[in-house]
Amino acid sequence: MKLLDIFSKLKGDINQIERELEKSVTFDDGLLSEASLHLLKAGGKRLRPVFVLLAGKFGHYNLDVLQKIAVPLELIHMSSLVHDDVIDDATTRRGQLTVKSKWDNRVAMYTGDYIFGKALTIATELNNPFIHQMLSKSLVQMSIGEMEQIRDFFNTEQTIRNYLLRIRRKTALLIAISCQLGAAAADADRQTVNRLYSYGYNIGMNFQIRDDLLDLFGTEKQIGKPPGSDIRQGNITLPVILALRDEKVRGPLLEEISRIKQSNGSADTAPAIKLIRESSGIGLADQLANRYLEKALHALEGLPAIGAKKNLIDIAHFVGKRNY
Ligand code: IPE
Ligand code: IPE
Ligand code: MG
Ligand code: MG
Repeated sequence: MKLLDIFSKLKGDINQIERELEKSVTFDDGLLSEASLHLLKAGGKRLRPVFVLLAGKFGHYNLDVLQKIAVPLELIHMSSLVHDDVIDDATTRRGQLTVKSKWDNRVAMYTGDYIFGKALTIATELNNPFIHQMLSKSLVQMSIGEMEQIRDFFNTEQTIRNYLLRIRRKTALLIAISCQLGAAAADADRQTVNRLYSYGYNIGMNFQIRDDLLDLFGTEKQIGKPPGSDIRQGNITLPVILALRDEKVRGPLLEEISRIKQSNGSADTAPAIKLIRESSGIGLADQLANRYLEKALHALEGLPAIGAKKNLIDIAHFVGKRNY
């Protein structure tokens, strides 16, 4: 099932968000707009705006208000991607050239800042300090998460707990906040807001573990970038941490990782990926991802049986099985 089929009912509203996104990054300095629009038009799943809208259905749904949260959240996400691609030295994103490779790192740094500034411009049109606080918090935590990842590059002794804390910051929180703020802006009751936050958090954890699995085992066509990028750069993700605990592959995998490290990323990653594939790490990472998926579904249980609930359940299943 395509994500689009899942939320076809929201199509008109999503199109409106799309127009606002485009408007938000148009009409300033030519190059900043051009680079922002390049990433925007490359596509993307627009998951965070969709979560805002669906969460808004649990209260008084008002698109004019919700779009002032949905657009900034997608923009914050996009600005983090532009910067992330500099750090990750990534050539492609969403199947297109990254800003850093179509232009250069300097353009990418300012484009990321520009997009983030646009997010603030729109969010501050809402006179609600709680929303501003949560949006700032998400960016602070994302930055900490990305720094923790750099700190842990090539650290083959890192713990699962470290990994989980890191992905909580770099990915799960923004998705949790998308659900939370959508509901809060629609004046849903506190318990509903909390349930949706918990749904988003657990979906986000599942989402990043899946992303890390896809980075190892997806095809370039599926994921819009070359597979194996994480391990090439030294990002030791959950399947690798777990594979390193499998005595059968630990020794040779350590050697492969050290070879990749010494080659400064130019070594072939295929032998390492093959070892990980043969280890028990894949199955265990998959299990942990599924556990988060179940928690996400569980968080929805007490919510009223409206259409949006069904959509959230469907998205959970989509994210849980996604291959792009
Ligand atoms: C990519 O997020 C970065 C992660 C948090 C894993 P998405 O997979 O939501 O990216 P787009 O927006 O669809 O390109
Ligand atoms: C995405 O992280 C960026 C943030 C979550 C801030 P990754 O580096 O893991 O994601 P991709 O694989 O580039 O999309
Ligand atoms: Mg990256
Ligand atoms: Mg990264």
